[in-house]
Amino acid sequence: MNRFGIRFSFSTFGESHGKAIGCVVDGVPAGLRIDEQIIQAELDRRKPGQNAFATARKEADAVEILSGVFEGKSTGTPIAMVIYNTNQKSKDYSNIKDVFRPGHADYTYWHKYGIRDYRGGGRSSARETAARVAAGAIAKTMLSLLGITVRSGVSEIAGIAAKQFDFDHVPASEIYALDPDVEAAQKAAILEAKNNHDSVGGVVQLRIDGLPAGLGEPLYYKLDAVLADAMMGINAAKAVEIGDGLQSVRMYGSENNDPIRNSGFESNHSGGILGGISNGDEVRLNVYFKPTPSIFQEQHTVTTQNEEVDFALKGRHDPCVAIRGSVVCEAMAALVVADMLLLNMGRNMEGVSRYYNA
Ligand SMILES: Cc1cc2nc3c(=O)[nH]c(=O)nc-3n(C[C@H](O)[C@H](O)[C@H](O)COP(=O)(O)O)c2cc1C
Repeated sequence: MNRFGIRFSFSTFGESHGKAIGCVVDGVPAGLRIDEQIIQAELDRRKPGQNAFATARKEADAVEILSGVFEGKSTGTPIAMVIYNTNQKSKDYSNIKDVFRPGHADYTYWHKYGIRDYRGGGRSSARETAARVAAGAIAKTMLSLLGITVRSGVSEIAGIAAKQFDFDHVPASEIYALDPDVEAAQKAAILEAKNNHDSVGGVVQLRIDGLPAGLGEPLYYKLDAVLADAMMGINAAKAVEIGDGLQSVRMYGSENNDPIRNSGFESNHSGGILGGISNGDEVRLNVYFKPTPSIFQEQHTVTTQNEEVDFALKGRHDPCVAIRGSVVCEAMAALVVADMLLLNMGRNMEGVSRYYNA
């Protein structure tokens, strides 16, 4: 189960300390201009080792397209992309060979498979999410031709929440902060946790603009359900809110409903989705990330032989995964929307007849 999507789908391969990671994107309509530099630019936004707020592991994350593109355009056949791992330090992980890191997936992988690649967490490492970002860059390319944009930013870190959502500020911020007024406090909280050999959690806000009304497949492939699935599938994501999310349970219906005029909706508490189908308004999501599990404090755990040990980790880790995670959220959202756009093309006979000139 390493595949996501129905019409516009992708699968990924590779492990943190293996030779390479990559993806195969299937269902990309032929004739889409594919620019390796655009894919690389997206990867560079997720890349580790860029500042004190990310893991020190330095990877070029250089992408190479292997198939499915001819003379700069998609051919309609699977697009395979590879990113070679270059900065593995597997010896950092020799001390966890027989030990489960609390908060990470070691325990569950071991109990499920009976074998695990302990080097950097193997397949459970978020290194795999670089492949999702590469696939997402192709989805974004398709969306841009249709006037659809996906933006993200970090709204909250260590309980310090944004009061404004300035998406234009995000690219200039080392922590992809949405609120320049709380950015310094958020950075200080990350560095304080890091100095204490600890980590912090964060919240990513995601906005999708330019969606036509009508995307989403009732009943079991709803737009909100699939977006939630996509976000919850990202490492360390613990909750997803659509629109006003949890707040809406404390509202009256009269407050929560978005009144309708012939010019459109008067408010957007729903987050742009009704009945699992886009209503043409901005789609708004919050994705909640837990604190990075790998910390350098001594913790209680057990070995593969079920012996209790107290153990402190080595290695290089993100002190707050929401920051680089925001780029992965964008990629996954773009992939969901690309899939929904293609699925929606067969929604009624008028559309089918138009396509076949019938
Ligand atoms: C972009 C990104 C970077 C991450 N970096 C690290 C890291 O450096 N160290 C770590 O222990 N976990 C990191 N994680 C989180 C783990 O991969 C994740 O917690 C682990 O796979 C267990 O899965 P779960 O938290 O979803 O249950 C990262 C997650 C993301 C999205």
